[in-house]
Amino acid sequence: MSNERAQWDGNFAFLMAMIGSAVGLGNIWRFPYIFYTNGSGSFMIPYIIAIVVLGLSFLILEYALGFKYKTSILNILRKVKDKFQILGWLVLCIIFLICSYYVCIVGWDLIYLVLSFVKGWGADPNAFFSNSVLHASDLTSSMLSVVPVVLVSTFVVWLTTWYISHRDLNDGVSKFSKIAVPLLGILDVVIVVFALTLPGAGVGLTQMFSPSWDALLDTNIWLAAFGQVMFSLSLGMAIAMTYASYLPKKANLTKNIVTVICANSGFEVFNAVGIFSILGFMAMTTALPFSEVITDGTGLAFIAFPEVFNLMGVGGNILGPIFFLCIFIAGLTSIIALVEPMSSSLSDKFGFSRQKSVTIVCGIGFLVSLLFTSQYGSTILTIFDAFLNNCALVACIILECLVFGWFFDMDSLKEIVNRNTLFKVGNWWKLLIKIILPIILFILLVSGIVSTVLTGDTITLIVEAILVVVLIVAPCVLYYLTKVFGVERRHAN
Ligand code: ALA
Repeated sequence: MSNERAQWDGNFAFLMAMIGSAVGLGNIWRFPYIFYTNGSGSFMIPYIIAIVVLGLSFLILEYALGFKYKTSILNILRKVKDKFQILGWLVLCIIFLICSYYVCIVGWDLIYLVLSFVKGWGADPNAFFSNSVLHASDLTSSMLSVVPVVLVSTFVVWLTTWYISHRDLNDGVSKFSKIAVPLLGILDVVIVVFALTLPGAGVGLTQMFSPSWDALLDTNIWLAAFGQVMFSLSLGMAIAMTYASYLPKKANLTKNIVTVICANSGFEVFNAVGIFSILGFMAMTTALPFSEVITDGTGLAFIAFPEVFNLMGVGGNILGPIFFLCIFIAGLTSIIALVEPMSSSLSDKFGFSRQKSVTIVCGIGFLVSLLFTSQYGSTILTIFDAFLNNCALVACIILECLVFGWFFDMDSLKEIVNRNTLFKVGNWWKLLIKIILPIILFILLVSGIVSTVLTGDTITLIVEAILVVVLIVAPCVLYYLTKVFGVERRHAN
C-alpha cells in the first residue's frame, strides 16, 4: 500500500492546526488559576523565561525533526537507534491515555453546552455537577456503573474526532482547523469584551495585575511556569513533530514556531483577562473575597461559571453557550492533534491507510474512555491527569532531550532550522537541549513525583502503579509487534 506523506495545502493550514493543538483546556481553565496562585502579575517573568528556555527550544527540536525526516516519531527515533523506538511508543501510549480522558472532559463540556441555553444546571451548579452529571461516587465498585449521559457525550466527541481525522489531511484536519481556530479567536474576543463591561470586572483585573515580587524567590513558582508552558504548548507529545512532517520543503520553521508561541500565550493571557473580570463580577455580586471565587479545572468551568451565568440574568443565556462552545472547539482541536501522531505512526509502521489508523485509534480510544464514564470515572481521571502530566510526560521530554541531544547530530538540525530564515539558531540551543533542559525538567519531575505520587491515598497509589506497569509493558510489546508484523519486516522478506 502506498503511504506517500501528505502535505498541508498551505502554511496557514499548518499554523491553524498547530495553534489549535496548543490552545486547549490548559489555556482556558488552567492558566488563570496557575497565574493567580503563583504571584499574579509577577508570574509573567518566570512564564516568559519558561517560554524561551523550554517552549522555544523544544519546539525547534520537534519541528526540525519532523520537517527533516517527514515521518513519524517512531521512524525518527529508529534513525538514531532501533531500540529508541520504545521511547517513541512510550510517548504514544502516554498521549493515547491523555487523549482518552481529555475526550471525556470535552464530553462533559458538550453536556453543558446543550444545557447552557436554558441554564439547565439549576440553582445549585455544584450539586448538579456531582449528582446529576457525574453521578460521582467514592465507592470503587461504582467503576462498573456507567453514566449514560457521559457515555453518549464521550461517544459523540470521539465520533466527531474520527469524522474529521479519518479524512485526507487537507479535507479533514486542515479544513476544520482553518474554520475552528479563527472562530475560537472571535468567540474569545466576544467573551472578553462582554466580561470587561460587567460590574466588578475591575476587581478581578486588579487581582490579575497586582504583582507579588517576593513570590519570584519561590522555586515552586518557576516550576509552575515550566509546567504550564509544557502542557499548554503540548510539548513532548510528538504533535509538532507530526504536523511539521507535513510541511513543504520551503517552509520557514522559526517564523512558524514564534507565531504559534505568540498565538498560544496571547490567547491564554487575553482569555485570562476575561476570566478574571467574570470572577471579579462574581466576587462583587456575592460579596465573597476574590481568593474564594477563583478555582481551576472542572470547578471553574462546570461549577463557578454556571454560578456566574445564573447571576447574570439573560446575559448568562448568551455568554454561557459562547463559553462552553469555546471550550468545545479548543478541546476538539487539541484532541484531533493528539490523534495525529498515533495514527501517523500506525500508518508508517504497519502500512495502514489513514482511514484505518484513525479508526483503530478512535475505536480503542473510546473503549479506554469508558473507564472515565463510570460513577468513579472522575476520580480515576484526576489521578490519570496528575500522573501522566506531572510525571510520565516530563520523564519522556527529559529522555527525548537526552536521546536527541547526545546520540544525534544536532548540527544537521541546526542547519535545517537556519535555512529560509533570518532568526538563526546558535550553539545556545544545543546547550539547552543537552544539559539545561534535562536539569530543569528533572527538578520538575521530582517535584511532580513528590506532589502526585508521595502524597496519594491507597487508591491513587494503586492506579499509579498500574499505570507504571502499563507504560513499561505496552511500549515494549508494541515495539515487538512492529518487529514481527511491521512494514520493515515485510520489506525485509
Ligand atoms: N495544549 C493542550 C491544552 O492546553 C493540550 O489543553
